[in-house]
Amino acid sequence: MGDTLRAAAFLDKGGTGKTTTVAHLGVALQQQGHRVLLVDLAGKQGDLAKHFGVWADYQDRIDADEAWPNISTVFDDAWPTIAEKLGDEPLADLVVSTAEGVDLIPAHPGLDTLDSELSNIDNARQRYTRLEAFLDEYVDSLGYDVVLIDLPGMTNNVSYNGLWAARHAITPVEMGPFEAEQADALRRDLEKIAANFDMEIDLALVLPNKVDTRTKLAEEYLEAFAAEYPNAIAPDYVPYSQDIRNAAEQGRTAFALVEPSKTAQQARDAYLSAAARLVERLGGGGSE
Ligand SMILES: Nc1ncnc2c1ncn2[C@@H]1O[C@H](COP(=O)(O)OP(=O)(O)OP(=O)(O)O)[C@@H](O)[C@H]1O
Ligand SMILES: [Mg+2]
Repeated sequence: MGDTLRAAAFLDKGGTGKTTTVAHLGVALQQQGHRVLLVDLAGKQGDLAKHFGVWADYQDRIDADEAWPNISTVFDDAWPTIAEKLGDEPLADLVVSTAEGVDLIPAHPGLDTLDSELSNIDNARQRYTRLEAFLDEYVDSLGYDVVLIDLPGMTNNVSYNGLWAARHAITPVEMGPFEAEQADALRRDLEKIAANFDMEIDLALVLPNKVDTRTKLAEEYLEAFAAEYPNAIAPDYVPYSQDIRNAAEQGRTAFALVEPSKTAQQARDAYLSAAARLVERLGGGGSE
């Protein structure tokens, strides 16, 4: 495989499962033989690194002022100069490996002020293309097959950077009336971005999450979402699974559970089929 595929988890809403989705799709892709890098732009709390049990160590490095360079450094005007000084492997201290096989670039407190720093850049192109420039010049050469980016649950300069760099959005949606509205808003958001910046953002994957099919309503929403997003809808939905929540708290994904519950097994299967579909949708399925 040649090019590195990219996608960014985006929805202008908190708590729908963006981080969970990035973590599980990442591991699913890894299990399907892809080399995967996850990038956490979702805020200083380090949720993605927590999901893989590597945040405590990284937090120690942050506290000791040793988490440098970090994800916020690469947005800096001076990044190219810094990278040059760092020598042959400028990302050696930026990328963390995990027990589940995926690599990740953790969040950092510097993300706190990144949105406002970016808003000081007058030139829109300059403001929104920093992440793309970083991925193009420093990450693509590392040979990852897929880069997944976790974004904040809001539309700001940071999420624009993620969408611009990836051009493909992954969206976990819950099943409910409010969520249906949210998905509509998402489509409008993506259209607005496309109009403002003269760039298409493809909604690559809509993944129904936390689905409880014991309720009739959930079934109806599943059908409605499938009708609304015939191309992007994932082959299967992720059920509500207490195991997912518990695993996250233990710093692992549902794939690392030795004795997965029925819902955890169902979630794994859904992530695996979604991952395969995502690769197809991103154009990495082999056929040009
Ligand atoms: N399928 C699921 N079953 C049960 N719990 C889930 C499922 N998916 C996500 N969760 C839980 O829901 C909560 C929110 O998920 P997550 O952190 O992935 O959402 P998010 O969109 O990244 O939120 P934020 O906008 O705050 O970053 C977490 O506690 C997570 O463990
Ligand atoms: Mg999150």
